[in-house]
Amino acid sequence: MRLTFTITRFNPETDARPHEEDYRLEVGRGMTVLEALIRIKNEQDGSLSLRYSCRSAICGSCAMEINGAEKLACRTSVRKELERRGRITVAPLRNLPVIKDLVVDLSSFWDKIQEVTPWLSAPRQSHMAHPSSQMTLLPGSYRFHNVDACIMCGACVAACTAHEVSRAFLGPAALAKADRFMADPREPQAMKRARLGSLETEHGIWDCTRCNFCVEVCPKDVKPMEAIIRLRHAALEAGLVSTGGARHVIGFFRLIQRQGRLNEALMPLKVVGFSLMRLLHILPLGIRMWLKGKVPNPLAQPIVGIAQVRAIFASAQRPSKAS
Ligand code: SF4
Ligand code: SF4
Ligand code: FES
Repeated sequence: MRLTFTITRFNPETDARPHEEDYRLEVGRGMTVLEALIRIKNEQDGSLSLRYSCRSAICGSCAMEINGAEKLACRTSVRKELERRGRITVAPLRNLPVIKDLVVDLSSFWDKIQEVTPWLSAPRQSHMAHPSSQMTLLPGSYRFHNVDACIMCGACVAACTAHEVSRAFLGPAALAKADRFMADPREPQAMKRARLGSLETEHGIWDCTRCNFCVEVCPKDVKPMEAIIRLRHAALEAGLVSTGGARHVIGFFRLIQRQGRLNEALMPLKVVGFSLMRLLHILPLGIRMWLKGKVPNPLAQPIVGIAQVRAIFASAQRPSKAS
């Protein structure tokens, strides 16, 4: 079968903007997109740049956008893509600077991995003095939730809606990596708390919009968003609430528990806290809402049936019998 591959090309040294080029190729049974790209490069256009190594979905270097979704080219079947979409388009990962064609600059990705301290922080240990006392990790004493399966391909970061609007966001891969060390029982609680303290500040765990795209595109089932939610739970339990995101969750929870409904007059106050600067910042919005009749009575009574709402909260907070 002869197919057209539409590939986004861009050389920042010579091109004003990216453009698409079509390549016709005879494709065989079981061919992957990576094999097709390598043949196009070898047989038709040696100037095409792409990154790959293992060809076995292990190294993470061939992540790119195939038919509009972030995928590993080495484990994406040409035939299945064609059946699903009726065409094959290939582009570099989104929201990362393009070095050339399908090769993106992952410097910021690696900087963020570095930022979350991707190693075990252990106290100065007796095992240095006594080499026989090792730090053991017994089976069943930990749950990494598959976050240790990450191959650092960058697909989740490219798909991330929070990263799209704020490049400073630590991002799904780095936060999943942080969760791996939070789950490690060998790290002392004080160090875990220090970890959480740096993750719950601006551009950290509360920037995630929970769009789930990182979960959808991850080729290794890491589920970064779920890792971020675990980190949020841990931060709240540790009383670390320095950002509006954390205060929003707590304020929302308490309002529903107390009144059975959201109160838009009180919610912004719960998010900004007692900061005069932040209060002044939201004041114009509050006035506009009030003028348009959008501010409910802050002293409104709880809804009818509040007892049932509170019973749901009590039930959700009770430890389950299984645990
Ligand atoms: S769920 Fe959060 S981390 Fe994952 S892609 Fe969406 S915004 Fe990014
Ligand atoms: S979490 Fe998944 S998508 Fe993100 S870098 Fe790791 S393997 Fe790739
Ligand atoms: S070439 Fe290694 S993951 Fe695709």
